[in-house]
Amino acid sequence: MSTLIGAATADRYVVIGNPIAHSKSPAIHAHFALLTAQQIDYQRLLAPLDGFAQTVLSFRNSGGKGVNVTVPFKLEAFALATQLTPRAQAAGAVNTLKFEGAVILGDNTDGQGLVADIVRNAGVTLQGKRVLLLGAGGAARGALLPLLEQQPAQLVIANRTVARAEELVLLAHQYEPLAGIASVVTSSAFSDVDGEFDIVINATSASLHDDVPPVSSGIFTANTLAYDMMYGAAPTAFLRFAASHEAQIRDGLGMLVEQAAVAFALWRGVLPETAPVLAELRGALLARARSS
Ligand code: ATR
Repeated sequence: MSTLIGAATADRYVVIGNPIAHSKSPAIHAHFALLTAQQIDYQRLLAPLDGFAQTVLSFRNSGGKGVNVTVPFKLEAFALATQLTPRAQAAGAVNTLKFEGAVILGDNTDGQGLVADIVRNAGVTLQGKRVLLLGAGGAARGALLPLLEQQPAQLVIANRTVARAEELVLLAHQYEPLAGIASVVTSSAFSDVDGEFDIVINATSASLHDDVPPVSSGIFTANTLAYDMMYGAAPTAFLRFAASHEAQIRDGLGMLVEQAAVAFALWRGVLPETAPVLAELRGALLARARSS
Protein backbone atom coordinates (compact mmCIF):
# COMPACT_ATOMS: atom_id res chain seq x y z
CA MET A 1 0.00 0.00 0.00
CA SER A 2 1.27 3.45 -0.86
CA THR A 3 0.52 6.05 1.75
CA LEU A 4 0.53 9.79 1.39
CA ILE A 5 -0.91 11.86 4.18
CA GLY A 6 -1.04 15.60 3.88
CA ALA A 7 0.50 17.94 1.36
CA ALA A 8 3.08 17.17 -1.32
CA THR A 9 5.64 18.86 0.92
CA ALA A 10 5.12 16.29 3.70
CA ASP A 11 8.29 14.93 5.33
CA ARG A 12 9.28 11.62 3.75
CA TYR A 13 10.07 8.34 5.53
CA VAL A 14 10.54 4.77 4.28
CA VAL A 15 10.85 1.25 5.62
CA ILE A 16 13.73 -0.56 3.93
CA GLY A 17 14.07 -4.34 3.81
CA ASN A 18 14.39 -7.29 1.45
CA PRO A 19 11.70 -8.53 1.02
CA ILE A 20 9.52 -5.56 1.95
CA ALA A 21 6.11 -6.05 0.26
CA HIS A 22 4.63 -7.62 3.43
CA SER A 23 5.56 -4.71 5.73
CA LYS A 24 2.73 -3.30 7.84
CA SER A 25 4.78 -0.20 8.72
CA PRO A 26 3.22 2.14 6.10
CA ALA A 27 -0.28 1.39 7.41
CA ILE A 28 0.84 1.80 11.03
CA HIS A 29 2.59 5.13 10.44
CA ALA A 30 -0.31 6.41 8.29
CA HIS A 31 -2.63 5.73 11.22
CA PHE A 32 -0.22 7.42 13.68
CA ALA A 33 -0.06 10.46 11.39
CA LEU A 34 -3.84 10.75 11.37
CA LEU A 35 -4.05 10.35 15.15
CA THR A 36 -1.44 13.06 15.77
CA ALA A 37 -2.42 15.38 12.87
CA GLN A 38 1.09 15.10 11.43
CA GLN A 39 1.79 15.29 7.71
CA ILE A 40 4.12 12.55 6.58
CA ASP A 41 4.71 10.48 3.46
CA TYR A 42 5.76 6.92 4.41
CA GLN A 43 6.55 4.28 1.76
CA ARG A 44 8.10 0.84 1.43
CA LEU A 45 11.53 0.71 -0.23
CA LEU A 46 13.14 -2.52 -1.43
CA ALA A 47 16.95 -2.46 -1.18
CA PRO A 48 19.10 -4.93 -3.12
CA LEU A 49 20.80 -7.37 -0.75
CA ASP A 50 24.15 -5.78 -1.59
CA GLY A 51 22.87 -2.21 -1.75
CA PHE A 52 21.51 -1.19 1.66
CA ALA A 53 23.85 1.74 2.41
CA GLN A 54 23.51 3.15 -1.08
CA THR A 55 19.69 2.94 -0.88
CA VAL A 56 19.67 4.76 2.48
CA LEU A 57 22.08 7.47 1.36
CA SER A 58 20.29 8.20 -1.91
CA PHE A 59 16.99 8.45 0.02
CA ARG A 60 18.61 10.88 2.43
CA ASN A 61 20.14 12.88 -0.41
CA SER A 62 16.70 13.18 -2.02
CA GLY A 63 15.41 14.88 1.14
CA GLY A 64 14.19 11.87 3.18
CA LYS A 65 13.97 12.45 6.93
CA GLY A 66 14.20 8.96 8.37
CA VAL A 67 14.18 5.23 7.75
CA ASN A 68 12.84 2.13 9.46
CA VAL A 69 15.05 -0.87 8.85
CA THR A 70 13.93 -4.47 8.78
CA VAL A 71 15.30 -7.91 7.86
CA PRO A 72 18.08 -8.43 6.83
CA PHE A 73 19.63 -4.97 7.24
CA LYS A 74 19.59 -4.15 10.98
CA LEU A 75 23.31 -4.87 11.42
CA GLU A 76 24.22 -2.82 8.35
CA ALA A 77 22.11 0.05 9.67
CA PHE A 78 24.07 -0.17 12.93
CA ALA A 79 27.31 0.15 10.94
CA LEU A 80 25.98 3.02 8.83
CA ALA A 81 24.82 5.17 11.75
CA THR A 82 27.24 7.95 12.74
CA GLN A 83 25.66 8.24 16.22
CA LEU A 84 23.91 5.57 18.27
CA THR A 85 21.43 5.72 21.13
CA PRO A 86 22.47 3.66 24.20
CA ARG A 87 19.76 1.09 23.46
CA ALA A 88 20.98 0.71 19.86
CA GLN A 89 24.53 0.33 21.17
CA ALA A 90 23.37 -2.38 23.58
CA ALA A 91 21.27 -4.11 20.90
CA GLY A 92 24.12 -4.12 18.38
CA ALA A 93 21.48 -3.47 15.75
CA VAL A 94 19.45 -0.52 14.44
CA ASN A 95 15.83 -0.47 13.28
CA THR A 96 15.37 3.30 13.05
CA LEU A 97 17.51 5.98 11.39
CA LYS A 98 16.97 9.71 11.74
CA PHE A 99 18.78 12.20 9.52
CA GLU A 100 19.92 15.33 11.35
CA GLY A 101 22.15 17.41 9.07
CA ALA A 102 25.31 15.36 8.55
CA VAL A 103 24.41 13.02 11.43
CA ILE A 104 22.77 9.65 10.85
CA LEU A 105 21.28 8.78 14.24
CA GLY A 106 20.72 5.05 14.80
CA ASP A 107 18.17 3.83 17.34
CA ASN A 108 16.66 0.47 18.21
CA THR A 109 13.04 0.68 19.32
CA ASP A 110 12.25 -3.06 19.34
CA GLY A 111 13.02 -3.70 23.02
CA GLN A 112 11.23 -0.53 24.10
CA GLY A 113 8.24 -1.70 22.05
CA LEU A 114 8.28 -5.07 23.80
CA VAL A 115 8.41 -3.48 27.25
CA ALA A 116 5.64 -0.99 26.39
CA ASP A 117 3.41 -3.81 25.18
CA ILE A 118 3.98 -5.86 28.32
CA VAL A 119 3.79 -3.04 30.87
CA ARG A 120 1.28 -0.64 29.33
CA ASN A 121 -0.92 -2.79 27.12
CA ALA A 122 -0.90 -6.08 29.04
CA GLY A 123 -0.71 -4.26 32.40
CA VAL A 124 2.07 -6.55 33.70
CA THR A 125 4.94 -4.94 35.61
CA LEU A 126 8.44 -6.32 35.12
CA GLN A 127 9.94 -4.72 38.21
CA GLY A 128 10.84 -7.29 40.86
CA LYS A 129 9.65 -10.18 38.66
CA ARG A 130 11.26 -13.44 37.57
CA VAL A 131 11.73 -13.18 33.82
CA LEU A 132 12.77 -15.93 31.40
CA LEU A 133 14.03 -14.89 27.97
CA LEU A 134 14.11 -17.72 25.42
CA GLY A 135 16.63 -17.15 22.62
CA ALA A 136 19.95 -15.35 22.28
CA GLY A 137 19.86 -14.02 18.71
CA GLY A 138 19.27 -10.47 17.52
CA ALA A 139 15.72 -10.27 18.87
CA ALA A 140 16.79 -11.34 22.38
CA ARG A 141 19.77 -9.00 22.38
CA GLY A 142 17.54 -6.09 21.37
CA ALA A 143 15.30 -6.76 24.37
CA LEU A 144 18.09 -7.03 26.93
CA LEU A 145 18.69 -3.39 27.96
CA PRO A 146 15.01 -2.31 27.94
CA LEU A 147 14.11 -5.39 30.02
CA LEU A 148 16.87 -4.73 32.54
CA GLU A 149 15.88 -1.07 32.82
CA GLN A 150 12.62 -2.36 34.29
CA GLN A 151 14.65 -3.88 37.15
CA PRO A 152 13.42 -7.47 37.22
CA ALA A 153 14.46 -9.57 40.24
CA GLN A 154 15.90 -12.19 37.89
CA LEU A 155 16.50 -12.55 34.17
CA VAL A 156 17.39 -15.99 32.87
CA ILE A 157 18.46 -16.23 29.22
CA ALA A 158 18.00 -19.74 27.84
CA ASN A 159 19.07 -20.77 24.36
CA ARG A 160 19.53 -23.88 22.22
CA THR A 161 23.18 -22.89 21.78
CA VAL A 162 24.09 -22.12 25.40
CA ALA A 163 27.31 -20.33 24.43
CA ARG A 164 25.23 -17.60 22.74
CA ALA A 165 23.20 -17.12 25.94
CA GLU A 166 26.49 -16.88 27.87
CA GLU A 167 27.68 -14.19 25.44
CA LEU A 168 24.57 -12.12 26.14
CA VAL A 169 25.11 -12.46 29.89
CA LEU A 170 28.71 -11.31 29.47
CA LEU A 171 27.55 -8.39 27.37
CA ALA A 172 25.09 -7.33 30.07
CA HIS A 173 27.77 -7.65 32.76
CA GLN A 174 30.30 -5.61 30.79
CA TYR A 175 27.97 -2.90 29.55
CA GLU A 176 28.43 0.19 31.70
CA PRO A 177 24.84 1.52 31.65
CA LEU A 178 23.70 -1.81 33.10
CA ALA A 179 26.08 -1.73 36.08
CA GLY A 180 24.17 -2.41 39.28
CA ILE A 181 21.37 -4.45 37.73
CA ALA A 182 23.27 -6.79 35.36
CA SER A 183 24.06 -9.27 38.14
CA VAL A 184 20.48 -10.58 37.95
CA VAL A 185 21.19 -11.98 34.47
CA THR A 186 22.17 -15.65 34.11
CA SER A 187 22.27 -18.15 31.25
CA SER A 188 20.84 -21.63 30.93
CA ALA A 189 20.15 -24.50 28.57
CA PHE A 190 16.43 -25.00 27.86
CA SER A 191 16.46 -28.32 29.70
CA ASP A 192 18.05 -26.79 32.83
CA VAL A 193 15.54 -23.98 33.29
CA ASP A 194 14.05 -24.54 36.69
CA GLY A 195 11.22 -23.09 38.77
CA GLU A 196 8.27 -20.86 38.00
CA PHE A 197 8.50 -17.55 36.12
CA ASP A 198 6.26 -14.49 36.13
CA ILE A 199 7.03 -13.61 32.53
CA VAL A 200 8.37 -15.90 29.79
CA ILE A 201 9.36 -14.20 26.52
CA ASN A 202 9.95 -16.26 23.41
CA ALA A 203 12.56 -14.40 21.33
CA THR A 204 13.57 -17.48 19.33
CA SER A 205 12.47 -17.94 15.74
CA ALA A 206 11.15 -21.43 16.61
CA SER A 207 7.57 -20.29 15.98
CA LEU A 208 8.43 -19.78 12.30
CA HIS A 209 8.82 -23.58 12.12
CA ASP A 210 5.82 -24.28 14.39
CA ASP A 211 8.38 -25.41 16.96
CA VAL A 212 8.51 -24.87 20.74
CA PRO A 213 11.76 -24.37 22.69
CA PRO A 214 11.97 -27.53 24.83
CA VAL A 215 11.43 -25.98 28.27
CA SER A 216 9.62 -27.68 31.14
CA SER A 217 5.91 -26.90 31.49
CA GLY A 218 6.71 -26.32 35.19
CA ILE A 219 7.87 -22.77 34.35
CA PHE A 220 4.23 -21.71 33.87
CA THR A 221 1.57 -20.90 36.46
CA ALA A 222 -1.87 -19.36 35.98
CA ASN A 223 -0.23 -15.98 36.72
CA THR A 224 2.57 -16.32 34.16
CA LEU A 225 2.50 -14.06 31.13
CA ALA A 226 3.82 -16.06 28.16
CA TYR A 227 4.83 -13.68 25.38
CA ASP A 228 5.85 -14.57 21.83
CA MET A 229 7.58 -11.87 19.76
CA MET A 230 6.04 -13.54 16.69
CA TYR A 231 2.39 -13.06 15.80
CA GLY A 232 -0.23 -14.48 13.48
CA ALA A 233 -3.97 -14.99 13.14
CA ALA A 234 -3.73 -18.01 15.46
CA PRO A 235 -1.54 -18.44 18.57
CA THR A 236 1.99 -19.75 17.91
CA ALA A 237 3.02 -23.26 18.99
CA PHE A 238 4.78 -21.71 22.02
CA LEU A 239 1.65 -19.82 23.07
CA ARG A 240 -0.52 -22.93 22.61
CA PHE A 241 1.94 -24.86 24.82
CA ALA A 242 1.86 -22.11 27.47
CA ALA A 243 -1.94 -21.82 27.39
CA SER A 244 -2.31 -25.58 27.81
CA HIS A 245 -0.42 -25.11 31.10
CA GLU A 246 -2.73 -22.30 32.28
CA ALA A 247 -0.47 -19.34 31.44
CA GLN A 248 -1.83 -16.03 30.12
CA ILE A 249 -0.69 -15.53 26.53
CA ARG A 250 0.16 -12.57 24.30
CA ASP A 251 1.67 -12.41 20.82
CA GLY A 252 4.03 -9.81 19.33
CA LEU A 253 1.53 -7.72 17.35
CA GLY A 254 1.48 -5.12 20.13
CA MET A 255 5.29 -5.05 20.11
CA LEU A 256 5.21 -4.30 16.37
CA VAL A 257 2.88 -1.34 16.93
CA GLU A 258 4.74 -0.06 20.01
CA GLN A 259 8.19 -0.17 18.39
CA ALA A 260 6.73 1.84 15.51
CA ALA A 261 5.27 4.37 17.96
CA VAL A 262 8.70 4.91 19.56
CA ALA A 263 10.23 5.45 16.09
CA PHE A 264 7.42 7.88 15.20
CA ALA A 265 8.10 9.80 18.42
CA LEU A 266 11.84 9.96 17.64
CA TRP A 267 11.09 11.49 14.25
CA ARG A 268 8.06 13.67 15.03
CA GLY A 269 8.45 14.54 18.72
CA VAL A 270 5.01 13.19 19.63
CA LEU A 271 4.14 9.72 20.93
CA PRO A 272 0.99 8.49 19.17
CA GLU A 273 -1.85 6.59 20.80
CA THR A 274 -1.40 2.92 19.90
CA ALA A 275 -4.62 1.13 20.97
CA PRO A 276 -6.68 2.01 17.84
CA VAL A 277 -3.82 0.91 15.56
CA LEU A 278 -3.40 -2.39 17.37
CA ALA A 279 -7.17 -3.01 17.25
CA GLU A 280 -7.25 -2.30 13.51
CA LEU A 281 -4.31 -4.64 12.78
CA ARG A 282 -5.79 -7.40 14.93
CA GLY A 283 -9.13 -7.03 13.14
CA ALA A 284 -7.46 -7.21 9.71
CA LEU A 285 -5.44 -10.28 10.73
CA LEU A 286 -8.55 -12.12 11.93
CA ALA A 287 -10.62 -11.06 8.90
CA ARG A 288 -7.93 -12.36 6.53
CA ALA A 289 -7.78 -15.66 8.40
CA ARG A 290 -11.59 -16.03 8.21
CA SER A 291 -11.68 -15.36 4.47
CA SER A 292 -8.84 -17.77 3.58
P1 ATR B 1 16.61 -13.08 15.32
O1 ATR B 1 17.21 -11.83 14.75
O2 ATR B 1 15.18 -13.33 14.91
O3 ATR B 1 16.80 -13.20 16.80
P2 ATR B 1 18.75 -14.98 15.00
O4 ATR B 1 19.74 -13.96 15.43
O5 ATR B 1 19.06 -15.88 13.84
O6 ATR B 1 17.37 -14.29 14.59
O7 ATR B 1 18.37 -15.87 16.27
C1 ATR B 1 17.41 -16.88 16.22
C2 ATR B 1 17.19 -17.42 17.63
O8 ATR B 1 16.18 -18.43 17.61
C3 ATR B 1 18.42 -18.07 18.24
O9 ATR B 1 18.35 -17.92 19.64
C4 ATR B 1 18.22 -19.54 17.83
O10 ATR B 1 18.93 -20.45 18.63
P3 ATR B 1 20.48 -20.77 18.30
O11 ATR B 1 21.26 -19.61 18.84
O12 ATR B 1 20.76 -22.03 19.06
O13 ATR B 1 20.58 -20.94 16.82
C5 ATR B 1 16.75 -19.67 18.07
N1 ATR B 1 16.08 -20.75 17.33
C6 ATR B 1 15.87 -20.86 16.00
N2 ATR B 1 15.17 -21.96 15.71
C7 ATR B 1 14.92 -22.60 16.87
C8 ATR B 1 14.23 -23.79 17.25
N3 ATR B 1 13.64 -24.57 16.32
N4 ATR B 1 14.16 -24.11 18.56
C9 ATR B 1 14.74 -23.33 19.50
N5 ATR B 1 15.42 -22.20 19.21
C10 ATR B 1 15.50 -21.84 17.93
